[in-house]
Amino acid sequence: MLRTRITEMLGIQYPLLQGGMQWLARAELVSAVSNAGGFGFLTALSCATAQELRDEIHKTRDMTDKPFGVNISMLPVLMPGDLTEAFVDLVCAEGIVAVETAGRNPEPYVPRLKEAGVRLFHKVPAVRYARKAEAVGADAVIVVGFECGGHPGMDDVPSLIVLPKASQELRIPVVAAGGFCDGRSLVAALALGAEAVLMGTRFMATKESPMHDNFKQWMVNAQETDTMIVERSIRNAARIMKNQASRTVARMESEGATLADLLPVIAGKVGREAYLSGDIDMGTIACGQVVGRIAEIKSVQETIEDIMNDARVSIERLACRMSD
Ligand SMILES: Cc1cc2nc3c(=O)[nH]c(=O)nc-3n(C[C@H](O)[C@H](O)[C@H](O)COP(=O)(O)O)c2cc1C
Repeated sequence: MLRTRITEMLGIQYPLLQGGMQWLARAELVSAVSNAGGFGFLTALSCATAQELRDEIHKTRDMTDKPFGVNISMLPVLMPGDLTEAFVDLVCAEGIVAVETAGRNPEPYVPRLKEAGVRLFHKVPAVRYARKAEAVGADAVIVVGFECGGHPGMDDVPSLIVLPKASQELRIPVVAAGGFCDGRSLVAALALGAEAVLMGTRFMATKESPMHDNFKQWMVNAQETDTMIVERSIRNAARIMKNQASRTVARMESEGATLADLLPVIAGKVGREAYLSGDIDMGTIACGQVVGRIAEIKSVQETIEDIMNDARVSIERLACRMSD
């Protein structure tokens, strides 16, 4: 059921992908997604060195014999200490099935990935970047809508517009991201031309997600209005949960703060401390609007089973209406 070019390309049962999530998409979560028939991306950004990422890949392989990938998030411009080269070399050497890249043009890495047989899934927030990704040799494009947790780009265009437009224009398969959490939204994505959905926020709120329960409880209680966009002033818009830290960032930006001023609040390592300590007001924590549709913390297996059952019901309901 629901075979697409993406399920064929990745050798998976369901068109359900788990996107990169710094600190959270580690071996436990990624292996659970892949074991349940989806495809998880380990997040290189959670690792301080390529050696650490190699260990995490091996740990994941001990926990699943199913395929999984690696997310390599890049800063918009190459900075000193950038580990992208080392991460790309590692995924090629390790024979990883697919990488999810994001942040800047992956073109310099395409020849190496192709030679090693690693599929390139590039994640973009706008149709013009999707076209570019196809032109430089990506195997698939993940398009994120404005609803998404993390970086929605600077154009504020939601999934309902960016997804059908990208899938109509591109020849390579398109993966939908931003606002998906259940079977009915999966069916809607497929109807709009996607060949899989990629979710972050939904998998963030699962039993296997390695964050303090305080965050999971916050997510269960949160509404779709409980996220906000910050970091527009530094052209790195990010959708995050509303908390003390996000309000501080918004105030600092309105007062003209620079990147250097903001860093002590927005740095990734603050988020890591927050996840561990359970202090939900500490750190800027990525979270999508779809949090308002999440009512329960389930295991990854239950989450995926429920999505696929709900998808079947949605398809049957539509078929019934067609024949009425
Ligand atoms: C907590 C969290 C952390 C994330 N970290 C990353 C990351 O490190 N790299 C990346 O490319 N995307 C990251 N994302 C974005 C997701 O991979 C995905 O594109 C997004 O969550 C999809 O939208 P959704 O949240 O509505 O499902 C993160 C998202 C969340 C919710």
